[in-house]
Amino acid sequence: MQILVTGGLGFIGGHLVDKLVQKGHAVRVLDSMEFQVHQGKFPPYANDKAEYVIGNVLDRAAVRRALEGAEVVFHDAAAVGVGQSMYQVHHYVEANAGGTAMILDELVNGNHPIKKLIVAASNTVYGEGLYDCPACGKVEAPLRDAEQIKRKEWDVRCPKCAAVLKPAPTPETKSLDSTNIYALTKKYQEELCMSVGRTYGIPVTSLRYFNVYGPRQSLSNPYTGVACIFISRLKNGNPPYIYEDGLQTRDFIHVNDVAGVNVFAMEHAAAEYQCINVGTGNPVTIKGLAERLAAKLGSGLGPTISNEGRPGDIRHCFADVSKLKGLGYQHEFPAIDLDTLVEWSTNTASVDRFVEAKAEFDQKLGMAR
Ligand SMILES: NC(=O)c1ccc[n+]([C@@H]2O[C@H](COP(=O)([O-])OP(=O)(O)OC[C@H]3O[C@@H](n4cnc5c(N)ncnc54)[C@H](O)[C@@H]3O)[C@@H](O)[C@H]2O)c1
Ligand SMILES: [Zn+2]
Repeated sequence: MQILVTGGLGFIGGHLVDKLVQKGHAVRVLDSMEFQVHQGKFPPYANDKAEYVIGNVLDRAAVRRALEGAEVVFHDAAAVGVGQSMYQVHHYVEANAGGTAMILDELVNGNHPIKKLIVAASNTVYGEGLYDCPACGKVEAPLRDAEQIKRKEWDVRCPKCAAVLKPAPTPETKSLDSTNIYALTKKYQEELCMSVGRTYGIPVTSLRYFNVYGPRQSLSNPYTGVACIFISRLKNGNPPYIYEDGLQTRDFIHVNDVAGVNVFAMEHAAAEYQCINVGTGNPVTIKGLAERLAAKLGSGLGPTISNEGRPGDIRHCFADVSKLKGLGYQHEFPAIDLDTLVEWSTNTASVDRFVEAKAEFDQKLGMAR
């Protein structure tokens, strides 16, 4: 089949391209080689059996050229960074919502043999994950407010009875509470694709990736990918910097599984018109992540627990993966496994830009208050 992968030079897209090429598909990539991700260099891992259109999803001519003959489109191109999206508002909305709109506009108005569209969504659309209250049962909680963050009370409390809540697996049916610009654009991407897909009979699958990790994730991009931010701190002799008390949790999914689920969704009709969580279902604390990475890298550096809260951060979110498993997908890495990432990182240069990125965030958000 002829397949288009937007963002196919990126971390996730690159792995997906490899899997598709391996299966004998003809793969084309549309990617603008964003400087923040690639630092001006064509990635050495780019599969030489794929065709590359270097262009922006906002450029109609490039999109039209990339879509020629495409029967399946994986839309993974996006500006990726939660904190940064709060001050590069126009860039994020333009690239993510506008770029998706451009692809859909071309699909609808051009003459394309498209049979399936698979869009990269995100767990950030949920805001806080689902919780259990000892008195009220399952509850959905809003983001902690600025006053609570100022008091450094990190636990999420029940909106009905104020009891401290216990995190529960988050199913696809949890209401969406996209509280930052990046999350809003991911929600928009998903909903734009679903709307056009249903109207024109193009089967759409929206894959809500949780926190993805693995080889090739940029070690020099301080705006996204907490595992890589920690690795680049450690490799440069600096301790990982942790917000709050480090006991906040995330669901880390290996990039091989993310690419694997994409291929699975393409091959299984039951995934059509579905939003599907792509996680493992196992929460990992951020402090635990930093400690495991330090141990694997043979570094004695313990993390700095800053006890500092960032506006907009959630406390816990991990996936309910029953839907994914019910469709028949079997994980290659059912629980976090940092070996492939750490092994790859030891031979990869990394620039630690964390301090600059943090200063930028603090300055911008300080101005907003
Ligand atoms: N990495 C994660 O943890 C994670 C989690 C949830 C969702 N996602 C989503 O997965 C997708 C891929 O993310 P990733 O981690 O591989 O990021 P990445 O930054 O490594 O890859 C994104 C690629 O898209 C390209 N790109 C960006 N803007 C573009 C534009 N306007 N036109 C054309 N190409 C453009 C970049 O050059 C890059 O190669 C994104 O849609 C992201 O929102 C990622
Ligand atoms: Zn309660």
